[in-house]
Amino acid sequence: MRHQTVWILDFGSQYTQLIARRIRELDVYCEIRPCTDAAPDSFPDELTGIILSGGPASVLGDDAPAFDDAWLRTGHPLLGICYGMQLLTHLGGGHVGRGTSREYGRADIELSERPGPLFADFDANGGNPVWMSHGDHVDEPPDGFRVTARSRGIVAGIASDDDRIFGLQFHPEVVHSLKGKELIRRFIREVCGATGDWTPGSFIHEQVERIREQVGDKNVVCGLSGGVDSSVVAALLHEAIGDQLYCIFVDNGLCREGEAESIRAEFREYNLTIVDAQDRFLDRLAGVTDPERKRKIIGEVFIRVFEDESKRIENAPFLAQGTLYPDVIESISVRGPSATIKSHHNVGGLPEDMAFELVEPLRELFKDEVREVGEALGLSEGRVWRQPFPGPGLAVRCLGEVRRDRLATLARADAIVQEEIEAAGLTRSIWQSFAVLLPVRSVGVMGDERTYEEAAVIRAVHSQDGMTADFVHLPYELLGKLSARIINEVKGVNRVAYDISSKPPGTIEWE
Ligand code: XMP
Repeated sequence: MRHQTVWILDFGSQYTQLIARRIRELDVYCEIRPCTDAAPDSFPDELTGIILSGGPASVLGDDAPAFDDAWLRTGHPLLGICYGMQLLTHLGGGHVGRGTSREYGRADIELSERPGPLFADFDANGGNPVWMSHGDHVDEPPDGFRVTARSRGIVAGIASDDDRIFGLQFHPEVVHSLKGKELIRRFIREVCGATGDWTPGSFIHEQVERIREQVGDKNVVCGLSGGVDSSVVAALLHEAIGDQLYCIFVDNGLCREGEAESIRAEFREYNLTIVDAQDRFLDRLAGVTDPERKRKIIGEVFIRVFEDESKRIENAPFLAQGTLYPDVIESISVRGPSATIKSHHNVGGLPEDMAFELVEPLRELFKDEVREVGEALGLSEGRVWRQPFPGPGLAVRCLGEVRRDRLATLARADAIVQEEIEAAGLTRSIWQSFAVLLPVRSVGVMGDERTYEEAAVIRAVHSQDGMTADFVHLPYELLGKLSARIINEVKGVNRVAYDISSKPPGTIEWE
């Protein structure tokens, strides 16, 4: 089945993915495409509307990305946001004024006499807070357009006389635009006429069909890490092909306490092999303290172990992976590729020359949609809502040498953090919370005894995507309880500190 679809042309705004998520929240399917794509000669029947995103360039500047102006004459409803509005004004014969400085932050907007359908939920008496982030502004809308809203005298919205093409100076996709969600809903539902046919249920139904078609009677190997993505992939494949699915969990000795057991309990019906590779990893890590070296070793050993294990599975030319939509979007890079801070996110990734054909059923989904699908497939709440956990596991939280005794100490302290954060009902609202073990010893006193042991650090951060983060203001009572429990219950730790660094300039993990 084809779903009603909205295309978002991406001009490089930091908010483009947010636009997509707001639309998906309305159960409407949308795709992000580079703004440099040529407009096709004919459009698919399911296309219901087009959005032009914001972007860092100026339509008047040399850095304006190439754009095919046939996009403005498709006959489909069109919404230009910020740069998108300036572009449709500039190309439509209106006038865009060069900004001398950037207006950034909250602003109030006032509606004009005929604000049109998008502003139906806004207050006609003014005082509508929205989020601005722009340099240039529209002085004069194109012919056939009217001004629908202003902010401090500046044009904040325009609309074509037939109410099919709209421009907004502000960002309705950002939560600080109070009625932004409603505005997007008006555009998608009323102007585009998209009713909402993209639901977790329909997604599962279609993917099950697609997987069966792709795989036929062959077997599929799935590397299960216990994280949300690979767990949902496994559950989806199990739904589609049952016993043709073979799951491999590599126990590298760097997992959280109880992880292997909980995987065994939840996925035992998925032809699950738990490979005890603890020695292979820990032997290679002995004496290694350099963070990058640790990551490299873990990545290499993982590939070997996985290769050895997957060879045992017969008639299995397919490998299932939890690739998500943000990984596949061809975003245009306006500022060039960002510098490598840590050799991250590909640890645990498999080399491209492995002789597998990929099955990637989550390629169209955002993380929150993956969770919804996981819930619909009946995975446990703890599994679906768990916090992200890095591929190299406790190794990058065990500063200094990664030894069995130090890993056991860290795992116990970490388990206490998990228990207490869960008991306080905070697991879901916090991006990541965990313990770190430092190779630093300090003096303490326990009973009448002098102690000389290592220090544990508690880390808890709020974040949207891991790119930036703020430390969580955990209540002092909770911090006190964590400290008391860790010092009393965990052998090898006599001091607890709380990490109050944000990212940037800190990073979330300590290594
Ligand atoms: P940092 O420490 O760079 O982490 O602020 C950002 C996010 O990435 C996770 N992370 C990793 N994930 N392999 C992974 O799969 C890694 O090597 C790795 N290092 C950091 C981290 O947990 C956080 O969510």
